[in-house]
Amino acid sequence: MTYSDVYESWKTDPEGWWMEQAKSIHWERFPSRALFDENAPLYEWFSDGLTNTCYNALDRHVENGRGEQKALIYDSPVTGTKTSFTFAEMTERTARFAGALARQGIGKGDRVIIYMPMVPEAMIAMLACTRIGAIHSVVFGGFAANELATRIDDAAPKAIIAGSCGIEPGRIVAYKPLLDGAIEMAAHKPDFCVILQRSQGTADLVEGRDHEWEAFQEGAEPADCLPVEGNHPVYVLYTSGTTGQPKGVVRHTGGHLVALHWTMKNVYDVEPGEVFWAASDVGWVVGHSYIVYGPLVHGNTSVMFEGKPVGTPDAGTFWRVIDEHDVRSFFTAPTAFRAIKREDPKAEALEGYDISRLRALYLAGERADPDTIEWAQRVMGVPVYDHWWQTESGFPMIGNPAGIEALPVKIGSPTVALPGFDIRILGEDGREMETGALGAIAIKLPLPPGTLPTLWNAEGRFRKAYLERFPGYYETGDAGYVDKDNYLWIMARTDDVINVAGHRLSTGLMEEVLSDHPDVAECAVIGAADALKGQLPIGLVCLTKGVNKAHETVARECVAMVRDRIGPVAAFKTVLVVDRLPKTRSGKILRATMVKLADGETVKAPATIDDPAILDEIREALAKAGHPASGG
Ligand code: COA
Ligand code: AMP
Repeated sequence: MTYSDVYESWKTDPEGWWMEQAKSIHWERFPSRALFDENAPLYEWFSDGLTNTCYNALDRHVENGRGEQKALIYDSPVTGTKTSFTFAEMTERTARFAGALARQGIGKGDRVIIYMPMVPEAMIAMLACTRIGAIHSVVFGGFAANELATRIDDAAPKAIIAGSCGIEPGRIVAYKPLLDGAIEMAAHKPDFCVILQRSQGTADLVEGRDHEWEAFQEGAEPADCLPVEGNHPVYVLYTSGTTGQPKGVVRHTGGHLVALHWTMKNVYDVEPGEVFWAASDVGWVVGHSYIVYGPLVHGNTSVMFEGKPVGTPDAGTFWRVIDEHDVRSFFTAPTAFRAIKREDPKAEALEGYDISRLRALYLAGERADPDTIEWAQRVMGVPVYDHWWQTESGFPMIGNPAGIEALPVKIGSPTVALPGFDIRILGEDGREMETGALGAIAIKLPLPPGTLPTLWNAEGRFRKAYLERFPGYYETGDAGYVDKDNYLWIMARTDDVINVAGHRLSTGLMEEVLSDHPDVAECAVIGAADALKGQLPIGLVCLTKGVNKAHETVARECVAMVRDRIGPVAAFKTVLVVDRLPKTRSGKILRATMVKLADGETVKAPATIDDPAILDEIREALAKAGHPASGG
């Protein structure tokens, strides 16, 4: 079968095609049909089937003879730990933790927030929730207390499971004070917390609310897997939108299992039993789909890596992990490779490692620049596949279907639409653009199984954010074009979301924080090109009339506020105090124009601009701060 055969067979009969894929999953009750379109344009898949995520990820493999195969390899250069867990061990640990959660009152539909570093217990906690039908919501450790509080209020969890600390190169990040602060700030209070005490930094427990991880499980009976409906939410994962309020992407159980299982062979080209590694974090969608669920559901061994591409201890870390654990397929963000390339341009650290059994490198999360792709191809000697997806989709929408047929790589394009996705390029008026013309990337409804059916507690926002602009389509928020070979090219975001080191961040949220500074009258945050992280945020602020504080002081305070309220992950380090911001005559701030100035692109003053002279002032301020940055 070629890629075209497979894509066409999906397109001819999408529902039949997905029913066929659904057979790869264990169901307590096989769904009577694939698509449930009674509420179109809201769609669901496999709604009347009964299945369990944890059973498909763990127990099933033990029953089918994979009990002694490693399910998880935990490699943590920041703590000097390397361990592994077989499918049998993971099942046993997860069942016991699930039993303890159930004993403490957690049941089907209850939400559980997980705020943990990259430790095996994070995976156990996630799987344990799914075992008993609880809905987990993992919050990335690099977010500050305020962001955690926002998620606590939206998800209203009965329990929170956290680690005492995370380990960043050169510092221990105490998570527990952030958790305590978040619970204090939030209007909703969890019934209890479970805290994993790490030896690198233990936390004080709150009497009557907090339980220590081991003590919590003492004497607990292992829990059985609870079959849930295909449309039961397996998790909610918050992601950045254009406003300060994050969007809770809902994932349904049945479609999630079916879609991820399909991608493991057809996209990532691994057979059950082989080792798969996604160097991301369980706090992001890549971590959900390809550290935890995809590999396990497919019977692969997954690597969980707690470290950075460089500095833990050096730029050879990735090569060591690939060699030592026999990784066959590897997934990370381009920024990680930019970091390695910058530190070790000749890849000297590769010396002494054998990565010849690796089949391919997959990159996603942000634009993969040609230099990085070419460098990775050259030093690794394997194909480098860029692929495109988002938290909302949960799995790749555009990619190179290497497990079906490796298509020729066109550097800069993530290749072709994968089955399930009918991708169209639309103009402002909603009409389809010609081949080669840039437009909004939209997907014809229904989206396939495994993609978001709605937003948590926010169906109206779901419709407004994704479905209203182009009726009958899902609006991705990205712009791009299709070439004559049907390859897609992703060019830019159409909204105020920026991408910093593969992390999706809202400039709107940063602006909300800056506006709270008592001396800031108005502000704008833009994403400027950065050679390492892809983009970096820059804040431009105008001071309230009469304030004569030193500009450096205001800038420092603004940077501290964003770090404190959003978290270090925002990488917000630059604030420029300017007299005024460029605006249209109707008062709209010209952010896109400022981005062009920051990136050194030619800027033609928009016809609607209020006062073109402001552009020179902004250009000057940016230049003083080193933008556009020269070289890389
Ligand atoms: N808990 C607490 N703080 C965290 C954190 C966590 N889990 N993860 C990151 N941070 C902090 C970092 O310590 C850093 O703080 P600093 O401002 O004090 O230096 C800040 O958040 C930014 O982190 P990061 O984006 O990781 O940048 P970095 O400069 O430490 O490292 C790279 C740069 C390129 C090496 C790094 O971004 C990387 O490895 N990226 C891989 C891409 C990736 O995983 N993407 C996920 C989607 S696939
Ligand atoms: P996230 O939801 O955090 O995974 O971010 C998704 C967004 O990251 C997409 O909408 C794109 O803007 C961007 N993105 C992801 N993968 C790619 C890619 N391969 N090329 C370009 N942009 C990408």
